[in-house]
Amino acid sequence: MWELFPEAASTLAGKVDRLFFFSVGVTVFFSGLIAGLILYLGVRYRRRSVDQIGEPERAATALEIVWCVVPLAISLFLFAWGAQLFFEQSRPPAGATTIYVTGRRWMWQVQHGSGRREINELHVPRDRPVRLLMTSEDVIHSFFVPAFRIKQDVLPDRFSVLWFQATGSGSWHLFCAEYCGAEHSRMTGRVVVLEPQEYERWLEAGDRAALPAGASGEHLFEALGCAGCHRGDTLAKAPILAGLFGSTVKLADGGEVVADEGYLRESILFPSAKVVAGYQPLMPGFRGRITEEQLLELVRHLKTAKNP
Ligand code: CUA
Repeated sequence: MWELFPEAASTLAGKVDRLFFFSVGVTVFFSGLIAGLILYLGVRYRRRSVDQIGEPERAATALEIVWCVVPLAISLFLFAWGAQLFFEQSRPPAGATTIYVTGRRWMWQVQHGSGRREINELHVPRDRPVRLLMTSEDVIHSFFVPAFRIKQDVLPDRFSVLWFQATGSGSWHLFCAEYCGAEHSRMTGRVVVLEPQEYERWLEAGDRAALPAGASGEHLFEALGCAGCHRGDTLAKAPILAGLFGSTVKLADGGEVVADEGYLRESILFPSAKVVAGYQPLMPGFRGRITEEQLLELVRHLKTAKNP
């Protein structure tokens, strides 16, 4: 029986399985109970002679209350359990390592915080929370790792987030779970779970030389002219970006926004969407002018740079 089921290799997997088996158990129990009752009552109250006529039953209030309240209680219990698990699954713990994932027809591109890149493979440390910041270059894909019991749509023009904490070392299947065209079924890969020290060594083994020349966030920041306005001296026409990430930004319309990855992304693509208080909306939008990969590089640069 267990071959039918993927192995459980994340902290979430056991919890998802318990909920799944519980709901299957409830379903099987009531299906059996109802089918059994139908058979039993069909035989017990069968017509015994040709001229026998049925008598309508008076309403049985107590019975009706029971068959309303019991399923309602079970449904609410399942809802509460599922919702609790959903929240846990949707909220990466603080301190999770962020790894960037770009889906495109038909491959997964991965970039680690150190800059090391890989394609159709994702190396992660065991027993550490990992947060995936994902986007798509083209159509909707879906990042699916059965052994971790996680699946999340990857959408163009926005970031979606997924997190997990792997518990089993080894290699696990990665699939695209959203039909995305001719080669969809081959948009697969593997997640390799390493011991934490091994992962550190693995990160260092790769270097940024793997990046095409001029593709790093630092380089793009200069090449796209960002540095001309976002500068630290008195000629600055735009907000200083050092230390921006994670801070609360006051906006020209009086609102506030926390500078997370989604805000950085939006401000690069559509700068006038949220203008910082005290500045003019002078910045050109970069929608269509840079690729998702370049955008990720810029966001990564802005998050880490002390002085972009
Ligand atoms: Cu990408 Cu299916």
